[in-house]
Amino acid sequence: MKLVIEGVSKNFANAHGQKLTVLEDINLTVAEEEFVALVGPSGCGKSTLLNLTAGLLEPSGGSIYFTEMETSHVPAVGIVFQETGLFPWRSVYDNIAFGLEAAGIPTNEQKERISHYIEMVGLSGFEKAFPHQLSGGMRQRVGIARALVINPDLLLMDEPFSALDAQTRTIMQEELVALWEKTRLSTLYVTHNIQEAVLLADRVVLLSRRPGRISKILTIDIPRPERENAEHAQAIDEYVRIIWEHISQDARAALLEVETNG
Ligand SMILES: Nc1ncnc2c1ncn2[C@@H]1O[C@H](COP(=O)(O)OP(=O)(O)OP(=O)(O)O)[C@@H](O)[C@H]1O
Ligand SMILES: [Mg+2]
Repeated sequence: MKLVIEGVSKNFANAHGQKLTVLEDINLTVAEEEFVALVGPSGCGKSTLLNLTAGLLEPSGGSIYFTEMETSHVPAVGIVFQETGLFPWRSVYDNIAFGLEAAGIPTNEQKERISHYIEMVGLSGFEKAFPHQLSGGMRQRVGIARALVINPDLLLMDEPFSALDAQTRTIMQEELVALWEKTRLSTLYVTHNIQEAVLLADRVVLLSRRPGRISKILTIDIPRPERENAEHAQAIDEYVRIIWEHISQDARAALLEVETNG
């Protein structure tokens, strides 16, 4: 399976009915077993691109499709949103079951698959808990299990750890790396955090703002499970520096705009 985003653009109408071009000429692929991180300043269209890929929005131009898979296969996409994505009235188990129920999967099979992922993300014993009883990190584990349990061909994650405190975030990043090594799912991961992108991704895609265009794609040439090791610290820092240099101009412009508007 390979995701192909080809010449994609997206326009919205702003509050005054004027056309706002959010994304322009986006060309990007996510290969089988590839982890791609999308980094860019606030408002550059990262979530829009993810929503387009999930089929929740229609592109204004270009196309998004899957290749290198059997023609009869309907691609499934799992999505992990920011913290708010869980149903507060459903237990952990029932939150994870949601997509399986919707797909009409028999209860027995649901049980098996849900137990498997509950164990994989470290939620054993919390099946009956409700979201408000869980920490932020645990809620995101539920979100990840819910996305994985449908056996997706592609995993989309939109700043899944941005609401977490720094320590929990680091733990969740490490857990995600370990989890990813087990599933090796093609992943498109949105983050504000450059360090996070460099720790997680095979390739880091930089989006510029207004309209969002791909300004650079970097391949991170360090084996993923070793990236936390001290021996790679300098190389990681160098990637972060290169990326920061690239996007800092954009980020400064965004800050100025916010200050002027606010
Ligand atoms: N439904 C919509 N109608 C009009 N404008 C929209 C709509 N959705 C997004 N936008 C605008 O498109 C631009 C990109 O939004 P998007 O949410 O994709 O950015 P983002 O990169 O995810 O930002 P952030 O990092 O803050 O999450 C913003 O200017 C936003 O106001
Ligand atoms: Mg966003």
